[in-house]
Amino acid sequence: MSKPRILVARAVFPETIARLEQHFEVASNQSDDSWSKAELIAQLQGKQGVFTTGSERIDAELLAACPELKICANMAVGYNNFDVDAMAAHGVVGTNAPDVLTETTADFGFALLMATARRIAESEHFLRAGHWSKWSYDMFAGAEIHGSTLGIIGMGRIGQGIARRGAHGFGMKVIYHNRSRLDAALEAECKASYAGKEELLKTADHVVLVVPYSAASHHTIGAAELALMKPTATLVNIARGGIVDDAALAVALREKRIAAAGLDVFEGEPKVHPDLLTVPNVVLTPHIASATVPTRRAMAELAADNLISFLTGRGPKTPVTPVPAVPSGAR
Ligand code: GLV
Repeated sequence: MSKPRILVARAVFPETIARLEQHFEVASNQSDDSWSKAELIAQLQGKQGVFTTGSERIDAELLAACPELKICANMAVGYNNFDVDAMAAHGVVGTNAPDVLTETTADFGFALLMATARRIAESEHFLRAGHWSKWSYDMFAGAEIHGSTLGIIGMGRIGQGIARRGAHGFGMKVIYHNRSRLDAALEAECKASYAGKEELLKTADHVVLVVPYSAASHHTIGAAELALMKPTATLVNIARGGIVDDAALAVALREKRIAAAGLDVFEGEPKVHPDLLTVPNVVLTPHIASATVPTRRAMAELAADNLISFLTGRGPKTPVTPVPAVPSGAR
């Protein structure tokens, strides 16, 4: 029997490709060429599965043009590149890569918070540029972390990881806002208490965003929300571009309406709003919150597991869409 055919849409670990090749006929974009939608559709002809990385848009137009496609496996926990309704309508399964990146991403969220509040990037640029001629008492004085109030918007697994770090490691008072409240035991374990969004924005010294992107969460933080925050507050976005109105944030940072921001994700990335590139009080990183080698390996393995499990008739491991009753491997 011939092997199912899959496409790996971006460069990934050679070991992952080798593993997939044991089960599938694999076409892969190991040169990491940037494909247009038309090129992606052309590459997907005759393929039953695709390994995506979160940047390939899977929508109704693509699905209609790729009738043999049965599964899209994202090497990312976020899956806002999937039109899940269109996938369900076409009977195509989508999977993501949860859990394996939780602690690593929470570490990074905390690192970005520290770098932002304590002005690490800004002061390093100052030093490298040769501007450090003498010590002064208020040089790069930043915001306190320990003992301050941490507000987390989006209290899923990563948000909970950040809460634990803040509460247990730094003695922070943790408040959170989420679609639904955590149960009492989890709140107690995270030492976190529920707050309305407005209350959180008004009282937190540091606001960290970990909410998934959807039409409903678009611009969760815009000019009105920034206006509620303390002028001494920091804002950290490790969620998705589009959760923050980047243009409004650049204005708030320039006018010092909030103290500083740390951003790992951007609207329209890899493009970055030009005004963010010129304000000093923002730390910018290129969407690397899950980027440690072991975690990226685990994410790639989980995406591969999903393809292998589903296309060999055992069902997907971490689906984010309805799963058709008849596994595609059996078709
Ligand atoms: C990264 O942003 C992910 O969703 O895994």
